[in-house]
Amino acid sequence: MPTPDAVGLEMLRLARVTADDVVYDLGSGDGRLVIEAARVFGARGVGVEIEPQLVQQSRENALKAGVAERARFLWQDLFETDLRGVTVVTLYLRADVNLKLRPKLLRELRPGTRVVSHDFGMADWEPDRTVRVRGPDREHRVLLWTVPASVDGAWTLQIERPGAGPVRVLARQRFQRFDGTLDTPEGALPVIDGRVEGARVEFRAAGAGGSAMLFTGRVTADRAEGTVDMVLAGGALRSYRWTAIRTP
Ligand SMILES: C[S@@+](CC[C@H](N)C(=O)[O-])C[C@H]1O[C@@H](n2cnc3c(N)ncnc32)[C@H](O)[C@@H]1O
Repeated sequence: MPTPDAVGLEMLRLARVTADDVVYDLGSGDGRLVIEAARVFGARGVGVEIEPQLVQQSRENALKAGVAERARFLWQDLFETDLRGVTVVTLYLRADVNLKLRPKLLRELRPGTRVVSHDFGMADWEPDRTVRVRGPDREHRVLLWTVPASVDGAWTLQIERPGAGPVRVLARQRFQRFDGTLDTPEGALPVIDGRVEGARVEFRAAGAGGSAMLFTGRVTADRAEGTVDMVLAGGALRSYRWTAIRTP
């Protein structure tokens, strides 16, 4: 069952594919998504397909479309495919195959990589966006995820504010969301609405006496940094830089 052209185009649009992308279609069928990624968006595309006659057909289709240099096809099992360096993954597999693939996607894809699936979800890894597309004979769903950086675990966070000491942060992450606690000198504050989108991180905390903090920043492996906007108990607004490092 190939993806209808209008749906394939919407998948690539939703993933914001550009000429800088390396797009892998896992289970690439006749190669149409890879060929569209190369032809319409100028990306480099790689199709991974287990059926040899479909690999052959895809190569012929890429030649006919004039994109053979930018569209490659591998005859192999998608579970054996090395995904490092990929920036966009497209899928039209079954829900159970997506779920089996999920740990590999989260392990091998860099934070910020877009994953887009035709019709099927990833169980409790909820999509960041879902759009509906009218196909020739039915409505289709296109689902988009952005691979989140890992923030799970303990961090020591320092707000660059005179007199502020280090704060221990414990984050419990579930895909693109997290909760946890900030151990401040005034006591433990809950992390509110923790979100990770690629390398971007955001969370809030409410302090004693009506003060509130909004942390935004970026995570790279074991370091994070950004800005905290504070509403102080008296209503004054302040912004400070913050940095954090993972702590054992
Ligand atoms: C529904 S088709 C989708 C084809 C194409 N991605 C599209 O959207 O038009 C799924 C394809 O995945 C291939 N496939 C299934 N399991 C695979 C595996 N483990 N490794 C590689 N290809 C696989 C099938 O042979 C089939 O061609």
